[in-house]
Amino acid sequence: MNVHATALADAHLPDEQTSAFARDAIEKLSQQPKRLSPKYFYDATGSELFEAITRLPEYYPTRTELGILRDHGADIAKLIPEGAALVEFGAGATTKVRLLLEQCAFAAYVPVDISGDFLNAQASALRKDFPALAVYPVAADFTAPFALPAEIADMPKVGFFPGSTIGNFEPHEACRFLRIAREILGKGAHMIVGADLEKDERVLYDAYNDKAGVTARFNLNVLVRINRELGGNFDLSAFTHRAIYNREKHRIEMHLISKKAQTVRLLGTGLSFRPGESIHTENSYKYSLERFGALARASGWKARESWTDANGMFSVHALAAAE
Ligand code: AVJ
Repeated sequence: MNVHATALADAHLPDEQTSAFARDAIEKLSQQPKRLSPKYFYDATGSELFEAITRLPEYYPTRTELGILRDHGADIAKLIPEGAALVEFGAGATTKVRLLLEQCAFAAYVPVDISGDFLNAQASALRKDFPALAVYPVAADFTAPFALPAEIADMPKVGFFPGSTIGNFEPHEACRFLRIAREILGKGAHMIVGADLEKDERVLYDAYNDKAGVTARFNLNVLVRINRELGGNFDLSAFTHRAIYNREKHRIEMHLISKKAQTVRLLGTGLSFRPGESIHTENSYKYSLERFGALARASGWKARESWTDANGMFSVHALAAAE
């Protein structure tokens, strides 16, 4: 190895994912308005902060969806053929999928997620608790087409996309995702999707502006991550969390607002901020039952049935492939 090669090997070269994050961050932070994708929230700290959010008194979606799955698991089971394979798009905590596995007779479970480590930990926990269940984790980006494991080829397929993660997509992206899911799952497939409902604006506002400030820390953590992973020099005390409900667009928007005029350095690029300038970090779209049904129909699915909690806060939809 020559001297030059040694120096390169010693330098902490960013891996593929880090450089994709770097390119994306510089591009989106150089645009007007500045943006960052919500997918960057979820490093180890961000995932922990999100788990803490799901336990906040103001943040109703997680516990409400769990209640719906608990109360209507038997109704969901009635719609699903026995011996089906359950394909979960994104693999978070296993709490929700366990409710389905307990109440419906699935032969196989296929969690799909970018993070392989997380998948494997999740898979071994489920294998222990559901010895009769075949678990086939797939490490893939579920927003693009991917191959299902050959082992489930002959089983009926049921997609699972809980948590109102679909709300992070722009409506046209949500449509594209549902179309891709239909392609991947094939003819005769079913899909169970969780979607947060449009509701009183105060309730929505409070869910993203909790008193304990956990959502603010979750939002600001993306800057901590940029500082650590990409060598940025964001001053955290110079940015503040803002979440607002955009009524026309039916979405909560999260922003990080620059408190002053400042220039942040990131990988040799200077990013200048005006006082009050925003980095738009997340959209969380809210759907009425009607608008979600229309989205499903426009994306290759028939709306079979939907369930909500008694207070009409959250919805779970059962879809069937249109052809
Ligand atoms: C994980 C996208 C469903 O939109 O409510 C929670 C993320 N952001 N608090 C949501 C989130 C701020 C969450 N989703």
